[in-house]
Amino acid sequence: MTTVLPSRPAGTAPGHAAALPLSFRGLQRSFGAGATAHTVLRDVTFDVAAGEVLAILGPSGCGKSTLLRAAAGLDSPSAGSVVIEDTAVQGIDARCAFAFQEPRLLPWHTLQANIAIGLPAGCSAKEGKAKVARLLELVGLENFAKHRPREVSGGMAQRASLARALARNPGVLLLDEPFGALDALTRIRMQDLLLDVHRVEPATVLLVTHDVDEALQLADRIIVLGNDGGGPGATIVRTVEVPGSRPRDRASAELAHLRGSLLQTLGVDAH
Ligand SMILES: Nc1ncnc2c1ncn2[C@@H]1O[C@H](COP(=O)(O)OP(=O)(O)O)[C@@H](O)[C@H]1O
Ligand SMILES: [Mg+2]
Repeated sequence: MTTVLPSRPAGTAPGHAAALPLSFRGLQRSFGAGATAHTVLRDVTFDVAAGEVLAILGPSGCGKSTLLRAAAGLDSPSAGSVVIEDTAVQGIDARCAFAFQEPRLLPWHTLQANIAIGLPAGCSAKEGKAKVARLLELVGLENFAKHRPREVSGGMAQRASLARALARNPGVLLLDEPFGALDALTRIRMQDLLLDVHRVEPATVLLVTHDVDEALQLADRIIVLGNDGGGPGATIVRTVEVPGSRPRDRASAELAHLRGSLLQTLGVDAH
């Protein structure tokens, strides 16, 4: 299942969620014990403002997914904490919703029914129906409500997955390489869609991506995880404020320069 589905506190309005600020405070995650113990994340500390889009870049295996899982309460840090608004995350957190690289839709359900799975508990049938209809329209699937996942393209399935995550009214939207499996053109369309969606449903967004251009196109700020030589595991090695309001010119010289410099931080030669 793509979304994290515990019940919302009773009485929470089913319409829109307010974007919530979050902070990672001295987050550390080690796996294993004794000789097999290894530290994946070390002393990760950063704040994300309510409604901000923050992209996370870093080499494969450096702990990006582990970081998102800690925010959702799907994984417990070995030390440190994640605080959403004023409350530390302890166990699966209803304030977050997750979408992954694969849509993870239930194949026997229609797209409409898959999106409805994301609705918060306690949402009335009438409210739920209206919300699903609105989300189908938001992600351009209003004519495919009754289709099953195998009857639509990968990009459409991914749009349904995004709609399912939004159905929760998340204060924090966690996206783990959400467009990584899509072809280049569909990926660009999805990036534009995400910007449109963010204007209408302004959650705080943590976007893990391996695509530097995607980070530059979508994020207010980018953090790069890597090993800084100060100990085992990954920590933040660079933070970049991305200039310019969105949508940004994909051909801008300023972004091209930043792209080269970020690739260098990631240890990839830009030429
Ligand atoms: N439950 C687990 N048990 C042991 N090792 C894990 C577990 N989850 C993640 N890891 C390890 O943590 C490291 C980081 O994983 P991950 O967060 O998936 O990296 P990324 O998303 O940056 O590619 C990997 O070496 C992975 O094997
Ligand atoms: Mg990952």
